[in-house]
Amino acid sequence: MKKATKLKENVYWVGARDLNCRNFHGELYPIEEGTTYNAYLILDEQTTLIDTVEEEFTSDCLERIQSVLKDQPLDNIILQHAEPDHSGGLMKIKAAYPNATVYASQGCVRNVTTQFHPDFPMNPLKTNDTLCTGKYNFTFVEMQMIHWPDNMLTYCPELKTVFSNDAFGQHIVNYQLTDENLDKNYCIEQAKEYFANIVLSYTTQVKAKLNLILSMNLEIEDIMPAHGIIWRKYIPDILEAYQGFADSKCKRKAVIVYESVWKHTQDMAEALAEGFGDAGMEVKVYKLSNTRSSIVFRELMDAEVVCVGSGTYNNEISYSVGAFLTHLKAAKVKGKKGLGFGAFGWFPKVPSNIDQALVDSGLTSCHEAIAQAFSPSQDQLENYYQIAQEIAKDC
Ligand code: FEO
Repeated sequence: MKKATKLKENVYWVGARDLNCRNFHGELYPIEEGTTYNAYLILDEQTTLIDTVEEEFTSDCLERIQSVLKDQPLDNIILQHAEPDHSGGLMKIKAAYPNATVYASQGCVRNVTTQFHPDFPMNPLKTNDTLCTGKYNFTFVEMQMIHWPDNMLTYCPELKTVFSNDAFGQHIVNYQLTDENLDKNYCIEQAKEYFANIVLSYTTQVKAKLNLILSMNLEIEDIMPAHGIIWRKYIPDILEAYQGFADSKCKRKAVIVYESVWKHTQDMAEALAEGFGDAGMEVKVYKLSNTRSSIVFRELMDAEVVCVGSGTYNNEISYSVGAFLTHLKAAKVKGKKGLGFGAFGWFPKVPSNIDQALVDSGLTSCHEAIAQAFSPSQDQLENYYQIAQEIAKDC
């Protein structure tokens, strides 16, 4: 029997823990410790559920709801996002509580209707609409493209709580549910990884919505996202961190990613890394086939320089580098310099093709692409070291 966890007076966590999840959203975001789908139950004259869970965990959610409500009805369901990790349980929960009224943004109504073909009505909401459940008032703010067109955030002034859905999420599974017993840097790093892999393409929208929320001067005791821990102790820290993420702030940091069969491209990567490192820059080097992509994108988020290296495979870029470049283009990063490099045997164009892909993804080429025929000599490695030192002078 799954039970609800009380978070504060009249507010309960009724979500689910997906402990075996290692690939969040398919292959897009590899994770290490599983995740949670957070749903919240609020008791008042009318009872309200905020968000549901992924479909396969609906029985967990329902058991937790029933552990609090017993024979009481569920009056309202506020669905803040149509993606299946939050809407997947809606049909079964609505079936269990057929008299509940469902509220969602207009985009969410459209997407839920298209995904699940429900034959029950949903009440569309827009920014500044409110719902009064007795002593509590809920105000809604549309959060378009953070990270779907239908995302929404809900604020309750009497509870001093923001229900933020995907915003401020992370994949921390903590049985105490809040940040109070956790290290601050760990929490912020997890939020950064989540931002880098889920929200990074939409920094402009994040900035606008953050400014809107801050201008509302809300009194906030809790931020309750749809994944991971509830922010309570580190609220100023996560708000400040999000402003930095949204500003695409970069530091003197180089991320070098590569793929190499016979170590020639790896030797180039290491020579570049030493050049950046000796110039005082922070450096991260990743062989893509050895590294989960979510770490690479977390580290890349605040890097000023991104160097991408590949050996040459039948005149093409290696598969892992090709996948990385596709992901990078989708991420729409801003304010970064790029460099393509790599070794070849008889077809020298792969590094310049990488360079072009970087430019097409919005990076500025900071040096002519480096193409190395077979293994680099000591003089050539020294040259790559010097190229990194030259690039570092402009960082
Ligand atoms: Fe957590 Fe966009 O779903």
